[in-house]
Amino acid sequence: MSQLEFQNVSYTHGGKTILKNLSVSFEAGDYVSIVGSSGSGKSTFLRLCCNLISPTEGAIFFNGKNILEEPPTELRKKISYCFQEPILWGTTVEDNLSFPYRIRNQKTDTGRIAALLSDFNLDKSCIHQEVKNLSGGEKQRIALTRTMLFKPDILLLDEVTSALDAENTGLVEKAILNWNRRGVTVLWVTHSEAQSRKYANQLLTIENGRLKSLEAIQ
Ligand SMILES: Nc1ncnc2c1ncn2[C@@H]1O[C@H](COP(=O)(O)OP(=O)(O)OP(=O)(O)O)[C@@H](O)[C@H]1O
Ligand SMILES: [Mg+2]
Repeated sequence: MSQLEFQNVSYTHGGKTILKNLSVSFEAGDYVSIVGSSGSGKSTFLRLCCNLISPTEGAIFFNGKNILEEPPTELRKKISYCFQEPILWGTTVEDNLSFPYRIRNQKTDTGRIAALLSDFNLDKSCIHQEVKNLSGGEKQRIALTRTMLFKPDILLLDEVTSALDAENTGLVEKAILNWNRRGVTVLWVTHSEAQSRKYANQLLTIENGRLKSLEAIQ
């Protein structure tokens, strides 16, 4: 049984078919790069994976169970999604980084937060900073930190390094690879050819809403 399986999935919105008849499956521990031209359906594919939207036709299975059967909030603790446009809320960085603890009724682990911030080249004092004053690259790294405070089974990443310089991109890639080595399945949408082939074991290409190819990377 695959960890995540799409069976003949189509997604139509406002009369437009955005994804057409996709069948694909991933195993636990896979590291998949998802590529394809702008507008081909990559973000729509990730949104389907965590039930932010649901298939118009076909079905998606997580560990053999239709993802529609699981409460979305529970599913998204196991399949976490880091958005293409980082969405931060509240006033401060702290409002965002305490959120994953609040929804789990757990005490905020300030040590864990400081360690992750440091992995991403951010000083722990940034928790007091107002979200509206952050740069694009800082927003991306804070959103990623928020996603990575708890380890999911599957991590969905949507162009999460698009606003970062080479050094910070490298730090993020290292942290993600580290998690993958600890068993987290990674599905990462990227426009960078170099990034797509660096650590992934599979390359998924979506073209015009269709699965063009799924190739193994040596
Ligand atoms: N809610 C929606 N309503 C109407 N059209 C949509 C909706 N969501 C996505 N689309 C359209 O579906 C297509 C695929 O969008 P999607 O965001 O999945 O592309 P993408 O491959 O992630 O592109 P990019 O590389 O630019 O991020 C686009 O043409 C987009 O305009
Ligand atoms: Mg996109």
